[in-house]
Amino acid sequence: MSNQKDLLYSDLLGKISDFSFDESVASVFPDMIKRSVPGYGAIISMIGMMAGRYVKRDSNCYDLGCSLGATTLAMRKQINQQGCRIIAVDNSDAMVDRCKKIVEDDSSQVPVEVICRDIQDVEINNASIVVLNFTLQFIDPEKRQGIINKIYKGMLPGGILVISEKLSYQDKDIQNLFIDMHHEFKKAHGYSDLEISQKRTALEEVLIPEDIETHKKRILKAGFSSCDVWFQCFNFASLLALK
Ligand SMILES: C[S@@+](CC[C@H](N)C(=O)[O-])C[C@H]1O[C@@H](n2cnc3c(N)ncnc32)[C@H](O)[C@@H]1O
Repeated sequence: MSNQKDLLYSDLLGKISDFSFDESVASVFPDMIKRSVPGYGAIISMIGMMAGRYVKRDSNCYDLGCSLGATTLAMRKQINQQGCRIIAVDNSDAMVDRCKKIVEDDSSQVPVEVICRDIQDVEINNASIVVLNFTLQFIDPEKRQGIINKIYKGMLPGGILVISEKLSYQDKDIQNLFIDMHHEFKKAHGYSDLEISQKRTALEEVLIPEDIETHKKRILKAGFSSCDVWFQCFNFASLLALK
């Protein structure tokens, strides 16, 4: 995996364009996400553990918005059933090209298909595990229910959906505190105030966080029997839903 340091927002930019998962982001992505998302490493390895527990024989496991395949590799390591395959999907060519190479270099045996496609256009079927690890937040909120409904329909009974997201809060004090703590986290990991502020501007129209109630309501409306938060650090959380 690339070990390049994320310096994308370190110089003062005249014009800040909307954030996109292009080649420059793909080339620094492991460093960027580790220093930007509190708990990212723990979430990835725990998703691997959940995959080991919930995967069913002869089923599909989906990693939707796979980026460089960190979740895919964590699941691949733990999948212990015959006849399974992982389908990793991302609509960024830069991410998919790199992800394919990373998967090729990984020695685990579970078949992996890496597909460059919008997750809205991906068919989900025979799924025992579906993961949206910090992906749904980049989808138009109007389209989110349709995606969760489609995932539910394509899942096997007893399957799990994992959704990790940046959250928003109605309570202004909590909202401000968590945003502040997140910035402290980024500063503690070497980002300057300029980097934090320029990246925040770039993401403003692109990453649309929702509150936890909105997520839970949508998941239950799709038909899942239960859902709850299994991990949280400040305004970053991961939910588990059971079919
Ligand atoms: C924050 S990254 C996800 C990180 C990754 N799941 C992981 O655990 O390392 C979000 C990814 O979602 C992808 N993405 C955003 N919108 C998408 C869409 N509509 N269809 C497919 N992929 C999408 C982006 O290209 C990006 O690679």
